[in-house]
Amino acid sequence: MSERIFIGVAWPYANGPLHLGHVAGAYLPPDIFARYHRMKGDEVLMVSGSDEHGTPITLKAEQEGKTPAEVASRYHQEFLESWQKLGISFDLFTHTETPNHAAVSQDIFLTLLRQGYIYKDKVLQPFCPRCQRFLPDRYVEGTCPFCRYAGARGDQCDQCGRPMNPVELIEARCRTCGTPPQFQYSEHFFLKLTAFSDRLLDWVKQQTHWRPNVWNFTVRYLEEGLKDRAITRDIEWGIPLPVPGYEGKRLYVWFEAVIGYLSASKEWAKSTGDPERWRAFWQGDARTYYFIGKDNIPFHTIIWPAMLMGYGNLNLPYDVPANEFLTIEGKKLSTSRNWAVWLPDYLARYDPDPLRYLLSANMPETSDMDFSWREFVRRNNDELVATYGNLAHRVLTFTYRHFNGCVPAPGELDSASQAMIAKAHSALSTMDNLLYGCHFKDAIKTAMLLAQGANRYLDDKSPWKTIGQDRPATAMALYTAIAVLSCLKTVLYPFLPFSAQKLHEFLGFKGSVGEGGWDLAVPVPGQVLLPPKPLFTKLDEKVVEAESARLGLATV
Ligand code: MF3
Ligand code: ZN
Repeated sequence: MSERIFIGVAWPYANGPLHLGHVAGAYLPPDIFARYHRMKGDEVLMVSGSDEHGTPITLKAEQEGKTPAEVASRYHQEFLESWQKLGISFDLFTHTETPNHAAVSQDIFLTLLRQGYIYKDKVLQPFCPRCQRFLPDRYVEGTCPFCRYAGARGDQCDQCGRPMNPVELIEARCRTCGTPPQFQYSEHFFLKLTAFSDRLLDWVKQQTHWRPNVWNFTVRYLEEGLKDRAITRDIEWGIPLPVPGYEGKRLYVWFEAVIGYLSASKEWAKSTGDPERWRAFWQGDARTYYFIGKDNIPFHTIIWPAMLMGYGNLNLPYDVPANEFLTIEGKKLSTSRNWAVWLPDYLARYDPDPLRYLLSANMPETSDMDFSWREFVRRNNDELVATYGNLAHRVLTFTYRHFNGCVPAPGELDSASQAMIAKAHSALSTMDNLLYGCHFKDAIKTAMLLAQGANRYLDDKSPWKTIGQDRPATAMALYTAIAVLSCLKTVLYPFLPFSAQKLHEFLGFKGSVGEGGWDLAVPVPGQVLLPPKPLFTKLDEKVVEAESARLGLATV
C-alpha cells in the first residue's frame, strides 16, 4: 500500500553560500529518502526554502552595504541553482519573504494568542551603551550558564546546543565592541512553552524509533524544565506582528522559520491547482520527517511540536533524523575562517554524483565524519570508477560487441548465476529496510557490496575467455551481470541519480529510472542496448594537491 510522506528540510539562512557541511548534514539525506519513497510509489512532498529573516541576514547586509532583501534574494537564487546541479529534488524550495508565508505565520501567531499560548510580557533586552542600540541575540556573547562554554551566543550555545535568552548569559558582552550590555525593558510576546512540558515529554518518550542522540538530547532538555520564549524582536526586517500598536516589532526568525514547513506546503498545494492538497500530508495517516543538522534539534523536537500542539489538528513530527557535523580535512568547518568547501565551487568543477557518493558513504549519521580531498579522489577512483563503473562498462561493452548490441538469452541459469541474482534480490530488500529507517550509510554500503560480488562473479565466469568456445555459458554470465546492473541502477538511484539514469538508458530502458519501481527489472533477452560510455571519470591525483592548496589559501 502506498504511503504519504512529508519531508521537511532545514531552511538555510540566505546569508552566504552553501558548503559541504550543509549538504552532508541536511540536504543530501532527505533527497535520498524522497527519491527512494517516490520510487516505491509513495506520495512524497519535500519542501524547504531560504530562511531570509533574522540577524544572520541583517549582519551580512550591513557588512556588504546592501539591503537585507538584496542579500537574501541573491543567495536564494544561488541555492536554487545548486539544488538543480546537485539533484536535490524539492517539490518546492521557496523563501520566507512570500506573502503566503507571512499570512500563514500571522495566522499561527493569532491562533496561539487566542488560545492563550502566547502572552505579552516585559523583557530585559541587551542595549549596548557604546553602540547605542538594542542588540539582537546573536550580537551578544558570553558564558553558557549550562555548560560554561565561554563563546555562547545570545540565541544559542554552540557547545551544548541549548537555546538561550541573552539575559541568561554570564558575563555578556557586545559582539561588535566588547562592552557589557545594559539590560533595558521592552514589551514582547512570549510562547508559553511551559504549558506543553508534560505533553511534550509524554509524546517524546514514545518516539523510541528516533536516533538516540536526538531522543536523549530532547528528553534531557525537557526534563531540565522548559522556559517560555520571547517570539518577537525589536528589528525592522522580518514579518510584522498582526497586532496593532506593535509596528516596530517583528516575529522572531525561529518562530516563523519553522512555520515555513506548513506555509510551503500550502504554497505547493496552490501551485498544483488544488489548494487543499496540503492536508493530505499534514493531517491523518501521513508521516512527517524533518531533516536537519544537530544544532537545530530543539527547534524541531520541542518548539515546533509545541506550536503544532497549540494550533491543533496538524501532525507532529514522526522522525527528526538529525545529522552530526562534517569536518574538513580533520578540522572543524568554519565559515568565518573560510575553512569550508563551498558547494557552488565544487559544482563548477566536478560532477554531482561523486560528491553524493562520498557524503553518503561517509554520512555523519551518528558521529562527526570527515571530508578530505584525498578520500574524495580515492572513493571516486577506487569505488565509483573501479568497482561500479568498471563493472557496468566491461559488461556492456563486451555484450554490445559480441551479442549484437542486445541483451543475450541466458538459457537455464547455473547455481552460481542463480545465487548472484538472489544476492541482487536480497540487496533490494536489505536496502529497502535500511532506507525506510533512514540508515543511508549502511544502505549504500550494501549496494557497493553487491557490485563487488558481481565483479567477482564475472571474474569467475570470465566471459571474455569463454566467448570463443562456449557461447551459451558466455550469454548466461553476461545476462546475469546485466540483471545485477539493472538492480544497481535501481538501488543506487536515490544516491547517484545522474549515473543511474545513464545506466538505465545504456541498458535499453526508456523514461526515467526513478519511475521504475523498487524491483529487479531484468532486461528481457533481445532488449536493445545503447552504445555504452563510462559512467564516471577517473580523477587525477593532482586534484588533491590543487584543492588542498585552495583550502590553504583560503585560510591565510
Ligand atoms: N536557518 C536555520 C539554520 O540555518 C535553520 C532553520 S530550519 C527551520 O540554522 F526550518 F526551522 F527554519
Ligand atoms: Zn552551553
